[in-house]
Amino acid sequence: MTAGTALAQTCEACGATYPELAAMLQCPACGGLLELRHPVPSGGAAALKTTWQARTGSGVWRFQEVVLPTVSASDIISHPEGNTPLLSRPALAEWAGIHGLHCKHEGHNPTGSFKDRGMTVAVTQARRLGATAVACASTGNTAASLAAYAAQAGIPALVLMPEGKVAEGKLAQSIAYGARVVQVEGDFDDCLRLVGQAARELGVYLANSVNPFRLEGQKTIILEMLQQLDWEPPDWIAVPAGNLGNTAAFGKALEEARAWGLIDRLPRLLAVQAAGASPFAQAFAADFRERISVQAETIATAIRIGAPASWDRAVRAIRLTEGIVTAVSDAEILEAKAHIDAAGVGCEPASAASLAGVRRLVRAGMIGPDDRVVAVLTGHLLKDPGIVLDYHLHAAPPPPLANRPVRIPATLQALERAMQP
Ligand code: F0G
Repeated sequence: MTAGTALAQTCEACGATYPELAAMLQCPACGGLLELRHPVPSGGAAALKTTWQARTGSGVWRFQEVVLPTVSASDIISHPEGNTPLLSRPALAEWAGIHGLHCKHEGHNPTGSFKDRGMTVAVTQARRLGATAVACASTGNTAASLAAYAAQAGIPALVLMPEGKVAEGKLAQSIAYGARVVQVEGDFDDCLRLVGQAARELGVYLANSVNPFRLEGQKTIILEMLQQLDWEPPDWIAVPAGNLGNTAAFGKALEEARAWGLIDRLPRLLAVQAAGASPFAQAFAADFRERISVQAETIATAIRIGAPASWDRAVRAIRLTEGIVTAVSDAEILEAKAHIDAAGVGCEPASAASLAGVRRLVRAGMIGPDDRVVAVLTGHLLKDPGIVLDYHLHAAPPPPLANRPVRIPATLQALERAMQP
């Protein structure tokens, strides 16, 4: 790959610019969030598409020209990641009430969530800067991903998680990959505040999605999806929304893709929150007149977030795409998840919010039956086995899709009886 032009880190609030290799987590002048601004890539859209089509390997670094052009191949920390499938399952389309549904399954990433796409870029950048430690606050997936990439890079990782509110698979991953796991007596919002202080005062490199390099990697969910759709954009892209990093990254990817001639129209974003953690949906309903925070509670622990960090850039993404923000109940999330699981696809609870949101908008007449929709499934089913067992084994009365194992004596006769529907 050829080395490109260095990018500027630009403050979204005051417009101040800083070099690509400046180590900072916010604008030193005004405290605003930073974003990386790319020049128009040289060669034109058709040439880029041909180049990307021909490349194999990472589904993030395939798009290096529009992610982080300057880094040399030998400096990249890649698992590799990405190359996730775009699944079409008639049963799920029918359940949602539309004809054209695809699920972009980010649970197929190496640590089982979309976080790996941002983390390969953030940890690559951390190592370029000579970081001595990397850190994040997390509801579980960011931590698991950071722990894995930091292990590969040989940099110590510090992960802060809300005690008792992280799904088992995620906690197990962070421990196994060797991160310093800190369970904070508080919620995710407390963890994020604390890790921000650690970044400012203790000098650790912050890998949360306020880090602009994370967002550059997460843009490739959109680029890869568009490539899989032969650059024919869908009408809607549905995504679960918590800390709003993905919503922001999707908006940036789409804005750039249109500006650079990769697509000629924008899909509408549908950001879906859990009803008990829905400050962004509440603000959307009031035209984003004010920034809202709530005390968050939901069974979808990945998105149990009350004060999302990437607020302003997510607002921009929704406005740009004439998007919609909605909220779904925990019951709707569990029902959607049971259908996704039973279709043989599987995902973690937060991921199912995207499909639950699609169904809700179809029923409200805002998504038409002929609209083409991509629902992003953000994490793997095995991230949260506890929720699966609660739903199928313990919920009373048993929910409609409950699939209870049966216990039998070790005889063929009993086994034959167990085979009856
Ligand atoms: N889905 C899953 C599976 C997640 O883990 C997250 C966020 C989201 C959706 C929401 O994405 O924050 O970009 O709006 N998980 C973070 C974490 C907060 O710490 O793992 P977002």
